[in-house]
Amino acid sequence: MDHTIEIGYAIPMSINSEKDLEGLRKVGRIVARCLQHMHSVLEPGITTAELDKIGGAYLAHHGARSAPQLTYNFPGFTCISVNEEAAHGIPGAKIIRAGDLVNIDVSAELGGYFADTGGSAIVPPESKLHLQICAVAKRALESAMLEARAGAKLNRIGFAIEAEATKNGFTVIENLGSHGVGRALHEEPGFIPGYYDKRDRRMLRENQVITIEPFISSGAREVVENGDGWTLVTKPGVFTAQYEHTLVITKGRPLIMTLMA
Ligand code: CO
Ligand code: CO
Repeated sequence: MDHTIEIGYAIPMSINSEKDLEGLRKVGRIVARCLQHMHSVLEPGITTAELDKIGGAYLAHHGARSAPQLTYNFPGFTCISVNEEAAHGIPGAKIIRAGDLVNIDVSAELGGYFADTGGSAIVPPESKLHLQICAVAKRALESAMLEARAGAKLNRIGFAIEAEATKNGFTVIENLGSHGVGRALHEEPGFIPGYYDKRDRRMLRENQVITIEPFISSGAREVVENGDGWTLVTKPGVFTAQYEHTLVITKGRPLIMTLMA
């Protein structure tokens, strides 16, 4: 789940022990496998409510609790956003169709630790535009992860994401971003923009826990809420892809908590 600008944040998390790392890895693995499982059952005809129920059952089976439900009373276990919906889509009666671009975002809590992951998928047939946006969003995540190390400026993340988008003729959604995570779904250091903010003086610290989640769009720079209280959309015909990992910052490469293995 992304961090929208207006959402506040709670206590900061830093990894202080092997126990913290194990706790975070454990819930990270659950959300990663849940996302993969949900992607595997994504097919024309399924409703987003059915898909969400499968995700919710997976989390419950592993003892984890949906973080958006726990934190914000979100009306679903996971966020499922289809086509012009970029984030926070509410699971419901919407039927998935061939050719849809579907983003699933899974975040959960287990034992007091929170992990957050997400990913877009295309229901075949895959359009060239959808394939391109997804590829660029994946590369943006990879290149931002390479910049995220202790002692680096936090704005290197946005710089890397924006550079990848611009180079490929795409835009970044500026009011959706990455965030601190770990002991709460959204915490210190708060909103991490997906664009370069030269005035942002924050630095990355060793053992800090953050997400990186680029939102790459085929033209929009902003999302608006569609009136249901949650779903963040662009204009129809504009598409956004997102991939997200929960990371622990080190002096070298970040440790990825949201891996399936
Ligand atoms: Co997420
Ligand atoms: Co997030």
